[in-house]
Amino acid sequence: MYFDTHAHYDDKAFDDDREILLSSMPDNKISHIINLGCDKVTSEKSVELSDRYPFIYAAVGWQPQEWHSWNDNSIEEIRKLAQKPKVVAIGEIGLDYYWDTSQKDLQKEMFRSQLKLAKELNLPVVVHDREAHADCLEICDEVNMTRGVFHCYSGSAEFAKLLIDRGWYLGFDGPVTYKNAKKLPEVVKVCPLDRILIETDSPYLSPEPLRGRRNDSKNLPYIAAKIGEIKGLSAEEVAKITKENALRLFDRIK
Ligand code: NI
Repeated sequence: MYFDTHAHYDDKAFDDDREILLSSMPDNKISHIINLGCDKVTSEKSVELSDRYPFIYAAVGWQPQEWHSWNDNSIEEIRKLAQKPKVVAIGEIGLDYYWDTSQKDLQKEMFRSQLKLAKELNLPVVVHDREAHADCLEICDEVNMTRGVFHCYSGSAEFAKLLIDRGWYLGFDGPVTYKNAKKLPEVVKVCPLDRILIETDSPYLSPEPLRGRRNDSKNLPYIAAKIGEIKGLSAEEVAKITKENALRLFDRIK
């Protein structure tokens, strides 16, 4: 059975068949899915999905690209949503210098305040880090946060070691399967098995051989197989280990 630690089933890409697709997950070896919030509306939708499906859990938070809707009430709104029983993390939160560098200070403030909230609520975090590796780590260190995952990890093997030493988990998605992926297999090599999570980021980032199509959690075996190839394990063994890892990190799941 597979645990997808990162998906966005509230996305409009699933509007036509969300219910049929999600209902098919348990019969397709998907035992757990975490749906991530990116702002207030998507965090609420993540909680709604977790209410509706026993195998879906929610993370609530504000992504850096959504800075335009961040306001003085946002932290209180997240705090309130985080009280719901199936909210297992604060996320996705972080810094994104790929899409937008015009609001670095605001992005940092959003990240810092949500990290502090996660500490206060004793919840792990899901970090979105795009081309902002050094600043992400600096802010996490500043607030002494080490409990969570750098989702869709995109840094170097050297940077991965810094995170692993501190206790972080790394999330691997479709890009690890891409034919031109050079850096990511190196990262998987240095990452201890007990720190690896597998995620789809559905509807984005479909693995090979489905690259370019809409993604869903049933494609996790392609990612597990690639990691297994690098680590000398079967996809099933990778599924088992990464599921244990996810249950250890997201420990609000019974
Ligand atoms: Ni995401």
